[in-house]
Order: sequence, then C-alpha cells, then structure tokens
Amino acid sequence: MLAAADAATWRERDAELISPAYHMYSDLVVESAEGAHLHTVDGRDVLDFGCGIGVTNLGHRHPAVVAAVHEQVDLLWHTSVTAYHPKMIEAAAALVSIMPPSLDQVFFTNSGAEAVEGAIKLARRATGRSDIIAFVGAFHGRTYGALSLTASKATYRRGMGPLLPGIHHIRYPYCFRYCTHADDDICELVERELQLLFATTTAPETVAAIVVEPVQGEGGYVVPPATFIPMLRRVCDEHGIMLIADEVQSGFARTGKMFAVNHARVEPDIMCLAKALGNGMPIAAFTSGHRVMSAFREGEHGTTYGGNAVACAAVVAVIETMTRDHIPERAERLGRHVMERARGWQVDIKSLADVRGLGLMIGLEFMQGDAPATRLVDRISRNALARGLLILSCGIDGNVIRLIPPLTIPESELDAGLDILEAAMREEAA
Ligand SMILES: Cc1ncc(COP(=O)(O)O)c(C=O)c1O
Repeated sequence: MLAAADAATWRERDAELISPAYHMYSDLVVESAEGAHLHTVDGRDVLDFGCGIGVTNLGHRHPAVVAAVHEQVDLLWHTSVTAYHPKMIEAAAALVSIMPPSLDQVFFTNSGAEAVEGAIKLARRATGRSDIIAFVGAFHGRTYGALSLTASKATYRRGMGPLLPGIHHIRYPYCFRYCTHADDDICELVERELQLLFATTTAPETVAAIVVEPVQGEGGYVVPPATFIPMLRRVCDEHGIMLIADEVQSGFARTGKMFAVNHARVEPDIMCLAKALGNGMPIAAFTSGHRVMSAFREGEHGTTYGGNAVACAAVVAVIETMTRDHIPERAERLGRHVMERARGWQVDIKSLADVRGLGLMIGLEFMQGDAPATRLVDRISRNALARGLLILSCGIDGNVIRLIPPLTIPESELDAGLDILEAAMREEAA
C-alpha cells in the first residue's frame, strides 16, 4: 500500500507507474466526489462541469445508483456466459423501454469503443457488405475498428496504422467553421459529399453502414442542421445501408431528450451507448431490432465482462431515475438558461465566436479573427480551475469549451459555475 500523500507526490507516483499515453485535462488529485463536487486530496472543493467526460449525468454517487450498486454487490457480481442472471435482463428491459421503439435487443459491452466495434461487426454481418462511412471530426474510440472511424485528431492515429480497410470519411455539417451558405439556407454539403463518394469511391451497394454522432462530441460539440439526420436516414433507406447512431456522449438526457436522435424523430438501425448508461460504472451497449441483431449467430460475438451484474444494477437505477425525475426536461430547461447567459457574454467578449448546444451539451467556440483561439481556451480553463471550476475543451483545434455539468446540478451551483467561467473569460479574453 502506498502511504497517503499530497497532490504533488501522487502526481509523481502517477508519472512513474501509469502510462504517459493519457492526456490529463487537469492536475487535480481527486479523493471523493458528490453531485457536482470533486474533493481533492489537498482539501479543494471543485465544481465539475465535465462529468468525467460526459459520464456522471446524474452527478457523482447519485444516491439511487449507490443504493442499487450496494445491494447488488452483496448478491452477485459476475457470471458472463456461464449462466443467465436477472440483472442483465432487467437492465436490457429498462434500456429497451427508453429506446426508439424499433430497437428492442441489446448487447452489453464494457466501453464505448467496444460498443462501436460490435456495431460495425453487426452491420457488416447483417448486410454482407464491407464499407463504412464516417465523418471528419468524429470520435468513436481508440480500439482498431473504432479508431479507424475516429477522425477528430491525427494524433490518435499517428504511427498506429494500418487501420481497418473500407472506411471512408466525409465532412460533417460544421457550418460555423466550414460552410459558406447563409444561416437559413439548407446545408447541402453532406448530401453532395455522399453522392460524390458513391460516384467516385465506393458504390452504395458496397456500404454496410454510415456511423454518425447526432451531435459531434470530441470534434467540437457541433450541432448539425435539423435536416441532417433525416437526410442520412433517407439515403440509407434508398441504398439498404444501416444507420448507426453513436450516442455514447449525446445519450441519456444530455441533449434535453433521452437520445439526440429523438430530436430528429429518426430511428437508427443500430445505436451505440456508453458513458452515462452506468453513471460511472463501466458498462456500454449496442442495440438494434431483433431482425438485425439475429444476423449474429450463436457464438459469433461475445465478451467476458459485458453485462456484469453490478454494472447492470447501476443501469437499472440510472434509467429509473432519469425517467422518474424527468431528467431530459430538466436538461432542456437548464440548457436554455446556460445558452441565454452564454449568448449574453458574446455581446462584449468578441473572441467568443459561436455558442451552440442542444440541452445541456453546450459548446463555446473561441476564435481570434479567422484563427482558432486554442491558447486562449487553455488559459480560460486554467483560470477557471484556479477559481474552483473544472471545464473541458474539445474540437479539432482544441478551441471549444464544452459545458456538460451534471443534469441534476442545483440551479445555484450551475450559476456559481457560470459566474466563475464568466470571470475567467473576462480576465483572459479582455
Ligand atoms: C461519441 C463517442 N463514441 C465512442 C467513444 C469511446 O468511448 P470509450 O472511451 O468508453 O471507449 C467516445 C468517448 O469519448 C465518444 O465520445
């Protein structure tokens, strides 16, 4: 056992023992957490507007999830495929109850990347086709299949190739940065890119799936035009292509509806879920309709830990709590409040070039003239942390602050965090 130590000593030990691959957003050393608060080993109380990267949507150690996990720990932890267990079936039933109606079967995995891997395999198996279309700016994870779809930073891919063949990237409708059409014109970029790809690179009948984040996460909290997801659905239907929605970051009430695809009233063929599904317990899933899922014959896909009983107990508690406490509606309401305040800041903070969001998944993009203001975002983040607020950046240029506080945060704490952010911005962006 290592002796208790101060934060600096823990960081030194970390540097010795833990792979340097991890990119750390802060130097906090956290010992415990509750709701929207992180408590550090050196006695700091920090407001958490990052939720462990979009995971603790119900806040750290939500009492209902804690109780469900405690109860399950004393009953059963693990069977894998050696035996059925009720919690996994309960968790699947809970999940199916909130999914778009046509998605009624579940495969539990351990991480978002693993859910994406399963979804790719399922789409290939179900269609008998090989190719996959993904988007520039996408993040789908770091395992080889998922990494082959990920295109939000070249760093993730450098020196890792060759990646999976048969993957094609087209542009995401990131209109603020990359389109020239008028604000109220329909964005035709992606449909044109798709038609070009089909005409020049891969015939549509060779494409198994289009994989999309309904709101792009790591790529910059990019909210696409409302026509985008319905257009993808139409193109997929026309060519027998599966639409895979990666809701790993946008799912579970974050955008003001249980899933971001609900805004477009579109049902994907396969959906990938993780992060807030277990509110911090490591569990993920991909879901589809029976017909698609039965393309997997017995033994063709599997996992040891997926569907772990303790993690499944957390899933049931998360879904019951989100439904009972109307968490999507709360996210929508709090999100409107944050957007209003942030749009107010734009009046005199000129580098705050774009404020966008759905529900409480909000991005603030900073520019200096035509250049992404990456260093400014770093300075604002450090300034905010010194004042007691943890915020995370994102975006292909790292110039977007993402605001993803817990959806359960009391309004006074939400405003206290926004006050800190405003003070940090005014000091650094002046
Ligand atoms: C949209 C999306 N998909 C997949 C992943 C990968 O999830 P994990 O880190 O659990 O493998 C992430 C992680 O940030 C994500 O944001």
